[in-house]
Amino acid sequence: MTQKVRIAIFASGSGSNAQNIVQYFASHKSIKVEVAFVNNPNAAVIERMKTCNIPIFLFNKKMFYENNDVLDALTTFSIDYIVLAGFLWLVPSNIIESYFNRIVNIHPALLPKFGGKGMFGNNVHEAVLKNRESFSGITIHEVNHEYDKGKILFQAICPVLPEDTVETLSHRIHKLEYLHYPKVIEAWIALNY
Ligand code: GAR
Repeated sequence: MTQKVRIAIFASGSGSNAQNIVQYFASHKSIKVEVAFVNNPNAAVIERMKTCNIPIFLFNKKMFYENNDVLDALTTFSIDYIVLAGFLWLVPSNIIESYFNRIVNIHPALLPKFGGKGMFGNNVHEAVLKNRESFSGITIHEVNHEYDKGKILFQAICPVLPEDTVETLSHRIHKLEYLHYPKVIEAWIALNY
């Protein structure tokens, strides 16, 4: 039997996308979520991963930016692909270079609008509402050295309604994310492999 492709999910917060991805691939024939890398010891994603029996690798800034601890752990887990799901730190060059074209991210807006440093989660929805946009959506893209600048793989659009709040817009965007992110990851890996 051939080995499954091994994914590591990186997450910083609630982890609802991480959980959705784990559930999607739970009985997949060729792709397996191996581990979740988490940079915040208080993040709700930790509990979510525990309930799904996914091991956690907890790390801090020093381990990510000043030495090779995170890269070494990726090697130890024999990780093939990295999936960012609500992960807020810029990925350092040692990991970008070792996983060139093998790191994917989801952003809760239609890049190139509303991207860049500081643009994450509800900050993005606030900016979209403040700008009175008629549409928002999601962007799934490969990750390079800059925030939200890698090759775009997929976008999906949804309306922004006049009565929307950050909560209602965030809810609509999360539904789009749950629907598309696992399928895009699956197709992207199939094309790359
Ligand atoms: C998601 O909406 C994701 O697109 C966004 O954070 C949220 C995490 O939610 N990511 C970014 O803003 C990255 N710049 P979750 O923790 O419930 O999956």
